[in-house]
Amino acid sequence: MKWRDIPFLRRNLEPSILVRTPETTERPAQIIALDAVGLQLTSRAGPVQILRDVAFSVSRGESVAIVGPSGSGKTSLLMILAGLERATTGSVSVAGHDFRTLSEDELAAVRGREIGIVFQSFHLVPTMTALENVALPLEFAGRADAFDIARNLLGEVGIGHRVDHFPAELSGGEQQRVALARALGGRPGLLLADEPTGNLDGKTGRQVIDLLFNMHRRHNATLVLITHDEALARRCSRVVRMEDGRIVSDKPEREDAAVVAASRPSADPASTRAVGA
Ligand SMILES: Nc1ncnc2c1ncn2[C@@H]1O[C@H](COP(=O)(O)OP(=O)(O)O)[C@@H](O)[C@H]1O
Ligand SMILES: [Mg+2]
Repeated sequence: MKWRDIPFLRRNLEPSILVRTPETTERPAQIIALDAVGLQLTSRAGPVQILRDVAFSVSRGESVAIVGPSGSGKTSLLMILAGLERATTGSVSVAGHDFRTLSEDELAAVRGREIGIVFQSFHLVPTMTALENVALPLEFAGRADAFDIARNLLGEVGIGHRVDHFPAELSGGEQQRVALARALGGRPGLLLADEPTGNLDGKTGRQVIDLLFNMHRRHNATLVLITHDEALARRCSRVVRMEDGRIVSDKPEREDAAVVAASRPSADPASTRAVGA
């Protein structure tokens, strides 16, 4: 399998990543500003309204947990933030870019520069080593030192001794560390994580989450984290709860602890759906 065959990577790593969109000089305090966002998708049974009237703003440097029952639209919201899905209605501004006005290539370029994404199911390229998985997007971004950066990042996430291993030769926790290193490669201002510990055991999951929060703090990256884990949601500065495609509460975490506790279904098969299809 080639990297081009994987929709997530194709969308992220297309050579068009080298097409520069105009640099914005001002850095708006809000890295995310969504207003009246709706998402309608068409299934065999007809149109389905996935998101309804979503207003969601995040300031630079914040950490926001998104919680809610399976099927409530959490992953769909993340896909819109990543520019992997287009809102049917409403406005979407991420890192100073109005996503409505950008082409697919321009969205991919913004994603490559500004956004790091970590999924529950890792999305590594199976035919590439850990080092190659991390270096590839950096190469496409034109970094001559892609492999050096990748080696350093893999060291930072604690798997410097596994750089030449293929994903199948790595444990789940190690694979997620590689995915995390890849997401962090371009030093993105925005980190999006969709149940990143969903496929990991408790201890391994906590290590991956510690790394994620370290990166969030060290690089002042904004973090939007989908989780079913109450304790994890409490580590974020804000908890947003979704139900039936809407945001039903949005609070600083401590006040929201009870709500989060009530929202813990165990598995979330919908979040493993293929993206970018
Ligand atoms: N491609 C699609 N076509 C139609 N419906 C979809 C599609 N993807 C997801 N859905 C539906 O959208 C709803 C929200 O899904 P999702 O965003 O994955 O929720 P969550 O991540 O909260 O579990 C679910 O009812 C799901 O079945
Ligand atoms: Mg999901």
